Amino acid sequence: MQMGDQEHQTDAQYVRELENQIKRLKLIQYLNDTMNSTKNPNEILAKLLDQCISMTGASSGSIMLREKDSPDLKIVLFRNLDANVVQKTNIKVGDGVTGFVVQEGRPKLVNDVDLEPKYIPVRSDIKSELAVPLTIHGFIRGVLNVDSDHKNAFSEDDIDLMQTVAHQAAQIITRTMLTSELERKIQLQQILIDISNEVEKVYELKTAFDFVMKRLADKLKIQRGMLVLFDNEDVNQLSVVTAYNLTEEEMSRGIYRVGEGIIGRVVSEKTPISVPDINKNKDFLNKMKVKREKNTEISFIAIPIKIEGYISGVLAVEKEFEGTESLNDETDIIYLIGKFIANKVRAFQRITEEKQTLLDENLQLKKELYKNYGLSNFIGKNSKMVEVFDLVKLVADSQSSILIIGESGTGKELVAKSLHYNSGRREQPYISVNCAAIPENLLESELFGYKKGAFTGATVDRKGKFILANKGTIFLDEIGDMPIPLQGKLLRVIQEREVEPIGSESKVKIDIRIVSATNKNLQALIKEGKFREDLFYRLNVIEVKIPPLRDRKDDIPLLVTHFKQKYAVQNNRKIDNISPEAMRILQAYAWPGNVRELENTIERAVLLCKSGVIEPSSLPGFLVESEHSHVSDLSIGKWIETYIKNSSYEGKVYDTIVGYIEKELITSALLFNNRNKVKTADFLGINRNTLRFKMRDYGIK
Ligand SMILES: Nc1ncnc2c1ncn2[C@@H]1O[C@H](COP(=O)(O)OP(=O)(O)OP(=O)(O)O)[C@@H](O)[C@H]1O
Ligand SMILES: [Mg+2]
Repeated sequence: MQMGDQEHQTDAQYVRELENQIKRLKLIQYLNDTMNSTKNPNEILAKLLDQCISMTGASSGSIMLREKDSPDLKIVLFRNLDANVVQKTNIKVGDGVTGFVVQEGRPKLVNDVDLEPKYIPVRSDIKSELAVPLTIHGFIRGVLNVDSDHKNAFSEDDIDLMQTVAHQAAQIITRTMLTSELERKIQLQQILIDISNEVEKVYELKTAFDFVMKRLADKLKIQRGMLVLFDNEDVNQLSVVTAYNLTEEEMSRGIYRVGEGIIGRVVSEKTPISVPDINKNKDFLNKMKVKREKNTEISFIAIPIKIEGYISGVLAVEKEFEGTESLNDETDIIYLIGKFIANKVRAFQRITEEKQTLLDENLQLKKELYKNYGLSNFIGKNSKMVEVFDLVKLVADSQSSILIIGESGTGKELVAKSLHYNSGRREQPYISVNCAAIPENLLESELFGYKKGAFTGATVDRKGKFILANKGTIFLDEIGDMPIPLQGKLLRVIQEREVEPIGSESKVKIDIRIVSATNKNLQALIKEGKFREDLFYRLNVIEVKIPPLRDRKDDIPLLVTHFKQKYAVQNNRKIDNISPEAMRILQAYAWPGNVRELENTIERAVLLCKSGVIEPSSLPGFLVESEHSHVSDLSIGKWIETYIKNSSYEGKVYDTIVGYIEKELITSALLFNNRNKVKTADFLGINRNTLRFKMRDYGIK
């Protein structure tokens, strides 16, 4: 090479550098003008791309960007490229020339694509390419590239120019990103504030959920949402309780085991899970079989619903994917919204629990009622009692007045309640008035009520028992004790089916079933002039007569077993049995206080019993003594019969009965033979040793 050439070369180089310098200055000037011409970032980017193409003499070009944490490069802007081709182009970091530039963070100039192994053909007429990275805060966000239809189209200087543009573009992108991110954050916060204010006012879980979803739907592009809660039946299973934009059928398929799928994992891992694209996630099971578009990316956000630190369920939403950054923000938002929903879930659970408790209680109460006053708890198999039960069943549903006659404690009140609870009025009130227990001067106001000011002390209106019992049953207990003047008033009420509260001008219509009871002989009272005959006939349309317990002693073992069980359960005692002696004493007694007295006796015995078997020592002294004085008013045959029919002796009837008789026999024989064992053994015709063993076994001294 000659000296002149070199000089020439240097000059030429100098001129080119100068030209480049001017070009760059012009470019900066241009960039400056462009930046000031519009605020729309996309427009600016488009102008920058156009500038690159015209400056470098390229035939086409594009800007590609990627999301943080994502390997995919997306073409956000292009010139002279086929839109279809662009759509199909799927470039990842590391792929092809552009992918390489993003990976390396360095520009790449390809003078001949045919010689470049990295080049991925997009269009057959592209011969050379130049790509420079877009770097934002050290992170390579994308690539700016231009292509040409002839080889060696781009120079080293073009790299410089493109980098200047790329630097500017990166700044615009950053600024836009920051602004839009800020805007989005503000918007999300606003949504949150709106929702929290509104949800406060809603009590219903479903209403609250629908409200939240509707708000989120348009603001966050939410497509579907659902609330999944633990099942009551299966502790390892959750099911959809309410949903947004899901059909009933889809919802019914939404059943998740703990640990299963995304929903199940949120529960087992106790943390929110967000998936950018469910089409690419194997954990997304689509159990509800929802038909979704294949071509759009759908994100799924699922967060745990926590109540008092425990997970109760999952709130999940499905939405169009809008970028990793925003998915993170949205997950935060949904997490916060989950907290509002959790409060509603708690309230919802409380209501459900309360409702269930009420239902249970109601059912229990009804069962109790029917158990207590249905006939099943009415014990007796004595033929006279069977007649009583049959009559009660027969007349319960009639409207006729019923008079129950029986000694004290025979079960008159029990019959009255059975009549009510076996009638069509069972859901209506049952009102009981004890005519003997209320002072004479108060009975009238008690029965018929009074108006405010009717007498001194009547400061408010008061409803009488007749009005309270309207549509139901009134039980007039101890009717024989009702004073004569009131009997007249009662008669009028029964005849006219109207009551007139004291001090009232008007009468109140009543629809009432009258059941009355007495342990007195009303016929005798009528004769004495103490009971109105006309009232007697009104009340005694049907008469139910309950026999005293002493006339139905065969019911005693059944009643004893029944009360023994009742009080053992009530007092948490374990009573296995009643000794034959104790049972015999109970059957021998005359029971002036009837079933009530027997019931009290057994209650006491259960409480006093220490061994688990009721012995004579658990019974009141006077019972035991009376047993000695008139040994037994039952024949031995009857006595055996009662033991045979008492279910508590099943499997040991032989030992019990024979043992008892043997003991009685030995005791009596000993007494008869002046306690002389030798004489007694001879008398009985048994071996002396046998007698000795038996006496020891039975504890006879
Ligand atoms: N046949 C029976 N089966 C089971 N329990 C009975 C029976 N008869 C009475 N009772 C019980 O005996 C007790 C007394 O019954 P109830 O109060 O009905 O008698 P009463 O005739 O109204 O007595 P009083 O005349 O003293 O008012 C109650 O606890 C009742 O449940
Ligand atoms: Mg009574």
